[in-house]
Amino acid sequence: MASNTISVQKLTHGLRGTLTVPGDKSISHRVAILGALAHGSMRVQNYLCSADCMNTLRAMQQLGATVTPGEKEGSFTLTGTGMAPIAPTHDIDCGNSGTGMRLMAGVLAALPFNSCMYGDESLSKRPMKRIMEPLCLMGADIRACGTKPGCAPLRIMGGTLKSVDYTLPMASAQVKSAVLLAGMLTHGTTTVHQPAITRDHTERLFAHFGIPCRVSEDGLDISVEGPVHIKAKDITVPGDISSAAFWLVAASVVPGSELTLKNVGLNPTRDAIITVLKRMGADIEITPHTMDGEPYGDITVRYAPELHGAEVLAAEIPNLIDEIPVLAVAAAYAKGTTTIRNAAELRVKESDRIATTVGNLRAMGADVEEFEDGLAVTGGTPLHGAEMDSYGDHRIAMGFLIAGLQAEGRTTLLHCENINTSYPGFEEHLNQLTAQL
Ligand code: S3P
Repeated sequence: MASNTISVQKLTHGLRGTLTVPGDKSISHRVAILGALAHGSMRVQNYLCSADCMNTLRAMQQLGATVTPGEKEGSFTLTGTGMAPIAPTHDIDCGNSGTGMRLMAGVLAALPFNSCMYGDESLSKRPMKRIMEPLCLMGADIRACGTKPGCAPLRIMGGTLKSVDYTLPMASAQVKSAVLLAGMLTHGTTTVHQPAITRDHTERLFAHFGIPCRVSEDGLDISVEGPVHIKAKDITVPGDISSAAFWLVAASVVPGSELTLKNVGLNPTRDAIITVLKRMGADIEITPHTMDGEPYGDITVRYAPELHGAEVLAAEIPNLIDEIPVLAVAAAYAKGTTTIRNAAELRVKESDRIATTVGNLRAMGADVEEFEDGLAVTGGTPLHGAEMDSYGDHRIAMGFLIAGLQAEGRTTLLHCENINTSYPGFEEHLNQLTAQL
């Protein structure tokens, strides 16, 4: 568990060595959900044992799946319910996780019992209408009972749904997946059309579990034919590129750094952080490993003395949406301006990530312009340490601790416990790398 308050000092040495970041958050949620419905048992390895993904795994146990712990952290045998989950006896706690709640809503809406999901303060303010709308078009009965309209807790009166042909109003893998998960439990063909490519872990896992799923050549339209038969199959979750991103930026901006990150997921719908950092002049080398469902590999990153600003393309935004806070930190250490637009979705993440990123960068003396849909950072001005809030947002906490590694003096982040939602062990990795001589 990360400490409440974490401080770092400007480093006088590079970050060096080899690191293994924890398992991918998006894939872990989906493995728990699909494995819990499957026929048979499967061995899961490198599951992300973070607060978010453990909440989803516990929810699946409430639906009747069984989990037998293995020897290593993140390994267990998951025995599915053979497409016959049972009604949960108490309300499902989704903690901080929008992914957990939105994906499970798709499944729960199509099951023959009632359920209720709730979350923490941040999750209780996040928009749920985006999944309620398509699921209600399928005939689902979902009520958002939060004090904020359209927000959790969600009461779901489960039942038989009808298939749908749905065009997503925003590029969201969570909404896409909620509809596809409901569709796989429903008679007929459910099709989702996306305005831009979003992470395709659901589609890849459908293929892994033998679920028939068609993806158009341009990757924008996805169909699933329900009801499906899910056959349990062993799986190893690759490392999370969103967690690796903190070290890609840290090593790029701290002189003398050379880090190798092992077994990181390199799914092409998630790797734009590498493309954009390279466009900015980062020194990043990839050694790919054999693909089985999800591509992965080792990434070596070295200090980049000539880091410069770049434009992030609109089509790249969904591909690096979670990495934008730390990308903005890289931009503050790069010469020239980095512009990030078309990213209004950041306003409805664990915090309003445009406001929190801009506010914290300014607190460190960076030159930042805020837009409704993004930000522009002009780097080159030396940053100074500051005491900043993480606003209960794991990626803001980690992103600004990384910013502190090259800022004059001391940088302190308050309310860092939420780091545990995606990267348990971050503080240990930080201590390990910063302690080196
Ligand atoms: C996720 C999709 C993204 C991302 C989130 C995880 C997923 O959210 O920000 O951290 O696992 O599907 P949106 O679908 O809201 O873009």
